[in-house]
Amino acid sequence: MKEDLLQKAYDPDTFREVGKQLVDELSEYLKETLSGSGLVLNYQDPQEQWDLWKEALSGDTPGLETENILKHITRVHHPRYMGHQVAPPLPVASLMALLGGFLNNGMAVYEMGMAPTAMERVVTDWLCHKLGYGTSSRGILTSGGTLANLTALLSARRNKASEDVWIEGYSGGLAILVSEAAHYCVDRAARIMGLGEAGVLKVPVLKNFSMDTSKLPGIYEAARQKGLTPFAIVGSAPCTATGSYDNLEALADFAEEYDLWFHVDGAHGGPAVLSEKYKFLVRGIQRADSVVIDGHKMMGMPVITTALLFSNGATSYNTFSQEAEYLLADTVEEDWSNGAKRTFECTKLTSSLSWYAVLKQYGESIFEAFLNRQYDLARSFSDLIRERPNWELACEPQSNILCFRWVPKGIPPKTFNKINESIRARVLEEGRFYIVQTRLKGVLYLRTSLMNPFTSSDHLSELLTYLDTLGKASLSNDEALTETDVP
Ligand SMILES: Cc1ncc(COP(=O)(O)O)c(C=O)c1O
Repeated sequence: MKEDLLQKAYDPDTFREVGKQLVDELSEYLKETLSGSGLVLNYQDPQEQWDLWKEALSGDTPGLETENILKHITRVHHPRYMGHQVAPPLPVASLMALLGGFLNNGMAVYEMGMAPTAMERVVTDWLCHKLGYGTSSRGILTSGGTLANLTALLSARRNKASEDVWIEGYSGGLAILVSEAAHYCVDRAARIMGLGEAGVLKVPVLKNFSMDTSKLPGIYEAARQKGLTPFAIVGSAPCTATGSYDNLEALADFAEEYDLWFHVDGAHGGPAVLSEKYKFLVRGIQRADSVVIDGHKMMGMPVITTALLFSNGATSYNTFSQEAEYLLADTVEEDWSNGAKRTFECTKLTSSLSWYAVLKQYGESIFEAFLNRQYDLARSFSDLIRERPNWELACEPQSNILCFRWVPKGIPPKTFNKINESIRARVLEEGRFYIVQTRLKGVLYLRTSLMNPFTSSDHLSELLTYLDTLGKASLSNDEALTETDVP
């Protein structure tokens, strides 16, 4: 009986039939969603969704539930999707993720993923070259910017700190310097490493939310006087909330002068190195010891895949080991093909298949075209916002991320947070657009990341008109006007 069930589960003909049906359904979904018809999401609260899926599991409807799943997801392919920094993946990249999931080669050792391992070397060598690194650079692919930033900081400590934490454990007193606007995962990584709150030296930001590098020497000296030893400085390229780039050249100078590891979190906007027009934003990146670039943000990859690139590849080999294990045991050749020596993961995704397929099918110019388009669009959007009365930008966009808020005249400014929060709540409820919100120094802003290559200026004008309507409607809500949550 069990044998029959297993035979049925692995039956190639069933697989062919179900697979064709799935690709057909996804093709229809793609066509409809890219055209901008329908909602971006049909929001339901978690309890409702939980009830629905509990019932569906015990119910007797056969099939994969694809149709039902498609009704209850956020359509990142929709041109009115402008929320979190997740790419509408390039279809060929998604197919490669399917292939990877089907073949299930675990990648920990070379023979458990020969092609994906070699492709990973091709892709990471290409990225290193684009960063401006030399031939001794090496990279790895790993599962997300969060894990990649942690891995980079572990390498930094291993290679810069005088104590051997890997052998002796951590005795305290180390610190990193990072902008107060950096993604929270950098702070989290430092705490995981045992540095504690005191070990994360937060550098204030300028009005445009990029790091105020003039404060670095003072913060460094104050830390030394308290007995702390900074070993790394992290630049954001750009930071998450406003998409503002730190001045990487200035950070590189500082790192050099104080003998610090220089790490760049380019999870979102590192791919600017591929753009003739926007590479000025990452000037100095080639001087970083390590750089993180997320594939699933600005490079059209499916979640989750991140490149962690080292200017001196040898430094990546001792992150998770006692010795620098970059040589094969009995030869002088570099052991680049046993990836698990350098990654946090043992078994990992074969995400190199997606990167490689896109490079092969479309060439690297697709990445430049996408980035230029989205960064240009953000600049047009900021013009539209400035032209409208009652709207205010947090700062001029440097990337494809914008923060802005509705500031109607004649209304007490102390109510603006509440009003903008209620606007965003209505946007989520209605599902015509998907945008998010963020707090910057206590002020609540609406936030868009222009991730979709089919979002146009017309969609953005439509968004502002829609938000205006929601704002006016929220004014009739007395509750909003009596709330005073701005200090
Ligand atoms: C600048 C930056 N770094 C790191 C991360 C975390 O990356 P991931 O979500 O891939 O773990 C993000 C996510 O938005 C980010 O914007």
